[in-house]
Amino acid sequence: MIATILTPRLILIGGGAIAQAADTLTQIGGTRPLIVTDKFMEKSGKLAALTDVLDKAGVKWTVFSDTIEDPTTDIIEAGVAQLQAGAYDSLIALGGGSPIDTAKAISVLAANGGKMRDYKVPNPIPKQGLPLLAIPTTAGTGSEVTKFTIITDTETDEKMLISGLACLPAAAIVDYELTLTKPFRLTADTAIDSLTHAIEAYVSRKANLHSDGLGLNAMRLIYKNIRDVCAQSDNRKAREAMMLGAHQAGMAFSNASVALVHGMSRPIGAHFHVPHGLSNAMLLPAITAFSANAALNRYADCARAMGVCDDKVGDQAAVAMLLDALRALNAELKVPTPKAYGIDEKKYFDLMPKMAEQALASGSPNNNPRIPTAAEIVELYKEVWA
Ligand SMILES: [Fe+2]
Repeated sequence: MIATILTPRLILIGGGAIAQAADTLTQIGGTRPLIVTDKFMEKSGKLAALTDVLDKAGVKWTVFSDTIEDPTTDIIEAGVAQLQAGAYDSLIALGGGSPIDTAKAISVLAANGGKMRDYKVPNPIPKQGLPLLAIPTTAGTGSEVTKFTIITDTETDEKMLISGLACLPAAAIVDYELTLTKPFRLTADTAIDSLTHAIEAYVSRKANLHSDGLGLNAMRLIYKNIRDVCAQSDNRKAREAMMLGAHQAGMAFSNASVALVHGMSRPIGAHFHVPHGLSNAMLLPAITAFSANAALNRYADCARAMGVCDDKVGDQAAVAMLLDALRALNAELKVPTPKAYGIDEKKYFDLMPKMAEQALASGSPNNNPRIPTAAEIVELYKEVWA
């Protein structure tokens, strides 16, 4: 098997690395960037931390700050209009997964024209767009290092997966200090998202030796630090470990794909506006139980990497301990069921067949160790309801 590995050309990792943003931009050929971010980054002063660095280096910049959670095609088109109205040669994304995904999509659509849905998986993206410097401010999506962007089609409410070299940032700055002030819920949701990335990459049918090492190390870092990072927002050691774990998990799944959890999670997010990490968390224990027998040794490796059992424990027992650990983690991090979250019961049950169809259409369930039928996906949606 030949694994094809895609990564940014340049990655800076460490506390305070944002101070090197101007130099990093120069190295990828950027002189006049459009900064893609959101209103919270503006208000919280994080944007100023970036623009101060650019100002000192004499880099002229402009901001597009209309990014929203779960970015839509409307927002992407507005960003493309702003990009094309100026003489920009690069993009900088600052924020969580949404601003980074938005900047990727703006780069793709501006270079290729047409509509975002023209580039939905499995369609190719013919041209590379402007180079992107991605600066994440959460430890979760790993978007700074992935070849994916997820954009919701405003007309159909579908969360579209768009994938390819053209979505990959040219450079990333992974600075954990940007995550120090994040509140409990956001920290917990993004942390479980990254744990899901690492587990899904490792059990994926597209897993390879390169992604395996990154996935296992990410699981170790994330699981060891997830409670501390949620309980103590300013725990620098835990934040640093979590940021690296999320980053490595991103690199793992970008090159091995995610699987059934993400496939089923996207429709919940699209129809009910549940934060991405939270809908993953609602699904992770049940889907792990559903899938485990198809790749017992791989899930047992996950349990060992996370430290929920020692190396002497056999596969079957290790997987049982993994399931206990995932359920206990959800309880500790106060992950609600869809019902407890307040989702409308009738709408949820009526939409289940459509959500199953959308999950299968994304292609992600085909990477799962146990490939589900539409009926099995519906059963899983029912199982996690309450
Ligand atoms: Fe994710």
